Amino acid sequence: MKLNKAVLAERTQKLVELLSGRHGESATIPAHLIHAAGKELGYENCPGAIWKGKAGYGMYTIPSSSGETLSAASPEAPVAIVALEPNKLVADLNITTNGFSENLIPEKDPLFVPFGNFSSLKKILGTEMFYPTFITGMSGNGKTFSVEQACAQLKREVIRINFTIETDEDDLIGGFRLVEGETRFFKGPVIKAMEMGAVLLLDEIDLGNPAKIMCLQSILEGKGYFIKKTGEYIKPVAGFTVVATANTKGKGSDDGRFIGTNVLNEAFLERFPVTCEQEYPTVAIEKRILNAVFEDLGTKDQDFSEKLVDWADIIRKTFYDGGIDEVISTRRLVHIAKAYKIFDDRMRAIDMCINRFDEDTKTSFRDLYTKLDADVEVAEEDFTVDSVDKAEPAW
Ligand SMILES: Nc1ncnc2c1ncn2[C@@H]1O[C@H](COP(=O)(O)OP(=O)(O)OP(=O)(O)O)[C@@H](O)[C@H]1O
Ligand SMILES: [Mg+2]
Repeated sequence: MKLNKAVLAERTQKLVELLSGRHGESATIPAHLIHAAGKELGYENCPGAIWKGKAGYGMYTIPSSSGETLSAASPEAPVAIVALEPNKLVADLNITTNGFSENLIPEKDPLFVPFGNFSSLKKILGTEMFYPTFITGMSGNGKTFSVEQACAQLKREVIRINFTIETDEDDLIGGFRLVEGETRFFKGPVIKAMEMGAVLLLDEIDLGNPAKIMCLQSILEGKGYFIKKTGEYIKPVAGFTVVATANTKGKGSDDGRFIGTNVLNEAFLERFPVTCEQEYPTVAIEKRILNAVFEDLGTKDQDFSEKLVDWADIIRKTFYDGGIDEVISTRRLVHIAKAYKIFDDRMRAIDMCINRFDEDTKTSFRDLYTKLDADVEVAEEDFTVDSVDKAEPAW
């Protein structure tokens, strides 16, 4: 929608008045507070003039109500929160944006179908309260995706850190780097999220080394953080909160499925008030997810899509009953849909995507699918009776 200058100036004025009343004249505030105020006024996008006072990474100074910036209203457009030149980016911030666009507000994904804990998660993040949330569940069932999409829908910035055993205080809080012959301290993603009032996503936290992540302890209490190396005290800005995802509950993986996961410190886990247990989607929801993926790929085949979901459902039930050691995740079903787009052959697509499992599992998965789909062609050379005999799950 194109708006004329007078309307734009009026919209900007209203927004400035609301923000100035709330945070003080010409206050410098994080972008998400501006988005939230715009939303309250019913604006789909905030007027461009509001973003003219960029005052650092993700921070904006509210224009003064009498200032020039207001009269020179610029066209309404979605705003790129991060527009740093590459070397400035290195200097300002070391953030993992893996999986997200360079704008720290993730983009809405039309293929996302909300289910399970999504509404609770959105409620928690929507309050802008500091309320650390732990999401645990099997691999590939939408934990990370749901946090990303909750933030997209709420227009909240998110900084994602993917944990490994090597992740330490230097990666999280920051450290000294050599720049143009000088050592300078660079704030890490945790400090940046605190300063911006963003959502800090500690992805796969149970892969972290419990001793090396203890620096997060006071941050998980919502308190400030004293950076020992610089003597600076960082207070979290309103809106800052933490969401952690993990395949375990931080107690290790008894069955060895999630190798590399660690037993996290009990006091660390105690700092998360709530834990969401993420299950695989129901059959009905997963059919919606997969049908949408097929349609998006331009290979609409509802029959195949729905058979795949039924197949995955039987496999999961058998897994929970202890009849088999592996599962088919939602992520794997999406992989199969893509393989089908490439190979245009149901059985080939399934074979390519289940090759990662051991021989017995692979054969039994394949065998089950052929029972569900009478139309599928089984190539003799790919299917040995011998291996079927070895694997005998309860279907
Ligand atoms: N609610 C959903 N709507 C649409 N697609 C989904 C949904 N949940 C999961 N998927 C599909 O499954 C994929 C895997 O999701 P995601 O990466 O969030 O899993 P995860 O639970 O974080 O897995 P891991 O524990 O391995 O990190 C997504 O990329 C998407 O294709
Ligand atoms: Mg994940």
